[in-house]
Amino acid sequence: MNNKKNILVTGASRGIGNAIFNELHDLGEIYVSGRDENTLKTLGAKDFCVCDLSKNTDTLEKFILDKKIDILINNAGEYIYGGIEAMSETQIQSIFSTNLISPVKLISKAVTNMKENKFGRIINIGSISGVMGEAYASLYSSSKAGLIGLTKALALELAEFNITVNTINPGWVETGLGLESIEESEFSKEEIIDTIPQKRFVKPVEVAKLCRYLISEDAKGVTGQSINICAGLSVGI
Ligand SMILES: NC(=O)c1ccc[n+]([C@@H]2O[C@H](COP(=O)([O-])OP(=O)(O)OC[C@H]3O[C@@H](n4cnc5c(N)ncnc54)[C@H](OP(=O)(O)O)[C@@H]3O)[C@@H](O)[C@H]2O)c1
Repeated sequence: MNNKKNILVTGASRGIGNAIFNELHDLGEIYVSGRDENTLKTLGAKDFCVCDLSKNTDTLEKFILDKKIDILINNAGEYIYGGIEAMSETQIQSIFSTNLISPVKLISKAVTNMKENKFGRIINIGSISGVMGEAYASLYSSSKAGLIGLTKALALELAEFNITVNTINPGWVETGLGLESIEESEFSKEEIIDTIPQKRFVKPVEVAKLCRYLISEDAKGVTGQSINICAGLSVGI
């Protein structure tokens, strides 16, 4: 990249978002968001925004306009395990707000500056569960599948402004969310690893390095794509 950019990583306090924050740190002014103010404070970001995306995105929308974000990484996400009939109204609202509606709203604010500068990079962190479907994770799967449609449509809409939009779909990644989802399921960690062709979890840094590539000049032709990084999980059995 020629000059320093303003980058926002949502959900940067831990897990994949934190790895993305560390990987992109040298590329520009890097901003972070999440709910855990104490952790966000310690990261060393240019600035941070505390915002619970399951409730309201207003604070983060204002932050995006104020900081003139050039590169938006929609990483924050939640997972819920259980049969569809057990899902409450609150759980349904919460997961769709965090995983799908917030990315839509944040992108809608970020594109103003991106269009003016004729440069922008948007990366949504989806999930292999949005590509393949995951039993007892229908809300999670459908919220992540929505990101893929959003990505394709926006890639077309924003192509003339030199704005690329892509979704990365991780498979199993060893983070708080990854480990909690195993605990909630009926399978052990070993049983899950056995279903993965490479017999391993993806590392957060692998997702972060793919983000670094997608925002680079070399990747300017990559847009509208849904890229799986899943140690072979999505290919077949
Ligand atoms: N781990 C996996 O196996 C896996 C697989 C596929 C896709 N993914 C996706 O990768 C992304 C990151 O997941 P992860 O595994 O790194 O999870 P994680 O370790 O649980 O971290 C989630 C991050 O998102 C933030 N977040 C969660 N809910 C939020 C909310 N309502 N409002 C604002 N911020 C919120 C958290 O911030 P605070 O702690 O500050 O609230 C945290 O920084 C998610 O979109 C997830 O769906 C993960």
